[in-house]
Amino acid sequence: MPETLAVVNCSQLVTLSGAHRPRTGGDLRQLAIIEDGALLVRGDRIEAVGRQKEIESLISGDCEVVDARRRVVMPGFVDAHTHPVFAGIRANEFEQRATGATYREIAARGGGIRSTVRVTRNASQSDLVKAGKRYADWFLRGGTTTVEAKSGYGLTVEDELKILRAIKQLDEETPLRYVPTFLGAHDTPNEYGSRRGMYVNLVVNEMLPRVAEEKLAEYCDVFCEEGVFTADESWQILSAARCHGLGLRVHADQLSLSGGAKLAAELNATTADHLEHTDVTGIMALQAAKVQPVLLPGSVYALGSHQYPAARQMIDAGLAVVLATDFNPGSSPTPSMTMILSIACTQMKMTPAEAISAATINAAYSLGRGGEIGSLEKGKRADFVIHDCEDYRELAYFFGIEHPWRVYASGKLAFARAGQ
Ligand code: NIG
Ligand code: FE
Repeated sequence: MPETLAVVNCSQLVTLSGAHRPRTGGDLRQLAIIEDGALLVRGDRIEAVGRQKEIESLISGDCEVVDARRRVVMPGFVDAHTHPVFAGIRANEFEQRATGATYREIAARGGGIRSTVRVTRNASQSDLVKAGKRYADWFLRGGTTTVEAKSGYGLTVEDELKILRAIKQLDEETPLRYVPTFLGAHDTPNEYGSRRGMYVNLVVNEMLPRVAEEKLAEYCDVFCEEGVFTADESWQILSAARCHGLGLRVHADQLSLSGGAKLAAELNATTADHLEHTDVTGIMALQAAKVQPVLLPGSVYALGSHQYPAARQMIDAGLAVVLATDFNPGSSPTPSMTMILSIACTQMKMTPAEAISAATINAAYSLGRGGEIGSLEKGKRADFVIHDCEDYRELAYFFGIEHPWRVYASGKLAFARAGQ
C-alpha cells in the first residue's frame, strides 16, 4: 500500500478547485478556500481535501501527520516560462544597465543572449546540469514545483540537443518537474551574420526533426521581435513545429509591437508570452483564438522599464491570464514566483487572488496539465506548499522574503525550512 500523509491544522487550504478549465473574469478571484482545512495524500496523489473534522475521520494509524500550525496550504506554483539551463551569469551587463545602457544596446554589441550562447556552447551537459541543480533548488525553496523550461542558448543542432537533454536529466534527478520547450529560434548565432534565412532553415530542417525524433520537447517557442525573427520567419518555424506534433508558444511584443500576439492567434498557439507592447487588436485576437497570455513582469522590473503588460485589459477581455518568472540570466534573473505576485499586484493592479490563480491553475492549463496539477483536488498530483503565513494575501504583500515552510512534490518532501 502506498504511504499516506495528512496535513492538518491549516488556517486556509487554498484549493483552487472549480470548473475544469482555465479561469477567466471573476473566476480568477475564486480560490475555493477551506478555512480550518486538512489534506490527505496517498502516495503521489491527493486522496481528500476538506474541513479538519472530515479529514480526521479518514486518518489511519500508520499515516504520517504534519501539523501546519495555522499556516496557509496551497498548490505548488507552476512557472510556465523559464530559461533555466545556461552557463555563466551576466552580472556585468546588469551593472552596465544600472549606469544607463539598455538591453538592446548591450545585445547590439555582442552581449545579451549571444554572450550566454558563447559560454553555454563551451559547457558540457554535466556542467549545465550542475548549474541547473542550483537553480532547481531556488525554484523549490520558493514554492515552485513545476517549470516550463526552454532551450535557446546553444543555437547549433548539438548544443540545442545538449540543453534539452540537460533539462530531461534535471527532471529525472531533481524533485522539480520540467516541461521542455525547444527555443532554437532565440536568436541568430554570430556565425550566420546576416544570413538569418539560412539559420531559419537549419531550425526547420535539422533541429526540429531531431528534437521531435528524440522526443525532447513538448512545445516550440520563437523570439518574434524586431531584429530577431520576423512574424513570417516565426510563422515558418512554428508551423513546421506543429507538423512535428509540438505545441506552440511565442515570445511576443516584448520590446516592440512586432506582430507576435497576432501571429500567436493566427496559429492558434497555446500561449503568447510577454505582450508588453500588445495593443487592443492583439488582445482581441488572443481572446478570439483562446490563446493564453503569459505575463512576465519580472523582466519589465529587472530591465528598469515601466511598460508592464495590460493585465487588467486582458482580464476584462476574458483572457485566461498566466504569470511566470521568465527566469533567465539577462532580462529576468529571478526564480521567485512570490516576487512576481508582488509586482503583478503593485504594478499591474491584479488582486492577490487573481495573481495566485494565474500562477497555479491557469499556468497548469497553459502546459496541458490542467487535469494533473495547479489545484488541490482528489486525484491530482500531491504538489503542495505550506507557507509560513496565516492569510494567502501575505504571499504578495510581504515581498523580498521566501514564504515556504515545507514544499512537497508528488507527495514527497522536497524542501523544509529549519525550525518549527
Ligand atoms: O524572455 N526575450 C528573449 N528571451 C529572454 C531573455 C534572454 C536573455 O536575455 O538571456 C526573455 O526575456
Ligand atoms: Fe523568455
